[in-house]
Amino acid sequence: MQRYREIYERSLRDPEGFWAEAAAGIDWVRRWNRVLNTDRPPFYRWFEGAELNTCYNAVDRHVEGGRGNQPAIIHDSPITGSLRVLSYAELQDEVARFAGVLERCGVKKGDRVIVYMPMVPEALVAMLGCARIGAIHSVVFGGFASNELAARIDDARPRLVVSASCGIEPGRIVPYKPLLDGAIALAAHKPERCVILQRPQARAELTPGRDLDWQEAMAGASPADWVPVAATDPLYILYTSGTTGQPKGIVRDNGGHAVALHWTMKNIYNVDPGEVYWAASDVGWVVGHSYICYGPLLHGNTTIVYEGKPVGTPDAGAFWRVIEQHDVKVLFTAPTAFRAIKKEDPAGELLARHDLSRFRALFLAGERCDPDTLLWAQEKLGVPVIDHWWQTETGWAICANPLGIEMLPVKPGSPSVPMPGYDLRILDDEGRELGPNEMGAIVIRTPLPPGCLPTLWNADERFVQAYLSRYPGYYLTGDAGHRDEDGYLYIMSRIDDVINVAGHRLSTGAIEEVLAAHPDVAECAVIGVADSLKGELPLGLVVLKAGVARDHAMICAELVRKVREEIGPVAAFKLVAVVKRLPKTRSGKILRGTMKRIADGAEWKMPATIDDPAILDEITEALVALGYAGGGDGR
Ligand code: COA
Ligand code: AMP
Repeated sequence: MQRYREIYERSLRDPEGFWAEAAAGIDWVRRWNRVLNTDRPPFYRWFEGAELNTCYNAVDRHVEGGRGNQPAIIHDSPITGSLRVLSYAELQDEVARFAGVLERCGVKKGDRVIVYMPMVPEALVAMLGCARIGAIHSVVFGGFASNELAARIDDARPRLVVSASCGIEPGRIVPYKPLLDGAIALAAHKPERCVILQRPQARAELTPGRDLDWQEAMAGASPADWVPVAATDPLYILYTSGTTGQPKGIVRDNGGHAVALHWTMKNIYNVDPGEVYWAASDVGWVVGHSYICYGPLLHGNTTIVYEGKPVGTPDAGAFWRVIEQHDVKVLFTAPTAFRAIKKEDPAGELLARHDLSRFRALFLAGERCDPDTLLWAQEKLGVPVIDHWWQTETGWAICANPLGIEMLPVKPGSPSVPMPGYDLRILDDEGRELGPNEMGAIVIRTPLPPGCLPTLWNADERFVQAYLSRYPGYYLTGDAGHRDEDGYLYIMSRIDDVINVAGHRLSTGAIEEVLAAHPDVAECAVIGVADSLKGELPLGLVVLKAGVARDHAMICAELVRKVREEIGPVAAFKLVAVVKRLPKTRSGKILRGTMKRIADGAEWKMPATIDDPAILDEITEALVALGYAGGGDGR
């Protein structure tokens, strides 16, 4: 632990010195006036006064430095049966031309561009094209439906949207254009232009005067050069679930982000420039932003854009095939992907058919990693399996096992120890610091390290209220847990109503808003119930308005459809039951925690404040009918 401890302690003792040294990994146009501006707490700014361009650092400088012929992006798409490799030189050409398309469409520095794309290299080209001219991208995950996209359009107010004709899911083509048109119709803000990538699997009908065809626009585009932007200028906005239906626009700046991500590639993941690094996630999530796009490219690695699933494309050996074929050194994915593989190929027979002798490490994040899955992966792969913990807000790992510094002992169930700059504390309800093995709210003493959110998009007040007001001077992660005597962290639960479905962060509040808007529903509660594959699944309990005599099964089917249409298939909302009443405290607060414990078959106590204990019998009955309560996850 010695080397790690020295580095970690130095980062807290001398943050400016530490991050100024890390900043040497980035090419700057202008050096900073101050490494960290602390004049306006709780708003902190890293590398103020400095100028750089993130796209230049991720692309052009590697071409200048001799990596022009090295693959920058490998698009491996088992779902379409195609493989495409873009070298750094080709990526530079595409990105410069796409930046030219943006400029010709009137997009200027500071303008927002929404990117609603499947897993194709053009998604990264669009992101980097924005970064090149100082426009701010906001990528929206393709599994979100029109309503969610509309909410993001209205908050970000983009001048332009980049999308594709379709995404491809196992067994079905998902046409994106109707979802995009639906979102624009719903939104109050209307983007001036849309650039649509036509894919061979489905062609989109373009709206004359508004939509441009990607290929045609690119063919006629003149390349745009990169422009210097301030280190503190936003690079992107990424929306994430909060406690309400209104998503939070996490802002990422240019300077701190580039410095932090570049630092992590060697120090946490232990890859060297030129090696292949693969994050099997989606560009719509923070993992995709940081470790499909920016991290590996800033560091001169080859990144893989994988359009497929861990199983079914074509089988549970898909990951091993990709690792062998492309000489992947490090894979990063969510535990749920490994649970899916383990379920289909428990003995690892498909794995034995591939040569993984050059593969070095597996990193898991996005949700709690159960020790069974970690130990299975460790045994089958014979390489370090590292659980690490972070969130959209931070953009990189808060806790990890920093393989490039030194490999610390792995403790299954723990994402290990805090990374440099994260001054982690565990607090009780009164804000008192807790000692080893005492469970409380996990917070980080401010200022947060570079790369973490400086604020929320156009919502400084919400930023303070959501993260900094509960314990002044500390950032609230929203997770609860404890540390052991060695300083290893254990994440046990969320303290809010965020749930994690297959590594996707969802708000039960947002699903409740959709259910509550159904004309027959009087009130409702959505809880996250344990699931052996996806970690958690949302389960809804609804109380109907007096006098509603319609068939309950029909209403439930409507509710399932409504959530799919309004939030998206990714919510995986399929469990819903009608109940007569919901359990509440005497002050009217719905007892979601108790219902969750009953559903999960965990021990629970009758809450002292419950207004009518008999209600819990009815709830238990409804949960049993759905296959929950006492019986594990029901399958
Ligand atoms: N566009 C449209 N629909 C999408 C989509 C996209 N980009 N991504 C997912 N969906 C749909 C799926 O088709 C599925 O629809 P269905 O209800 O009709 O089957 C639904 O959303 C749920 O998708 P998913 O979460 O992928 O579940 P799954 O049951 O299809 O697959 C796993 C299960 C475990 C294989 C899958 O969740 C997985 O690969 N997880 C990896 C997790 C991950 O990458 N997390 C990111 C954070 S690191
Ligand atoms: P997201 O912002 O979508 O990346 O989700 C972040 C949340 O996912 C965290 O606040 C945690 O609740 C959960 N999470 C992410 N990684 C881990 C992990 N390694 N262990 C436990 N929970 C995790």
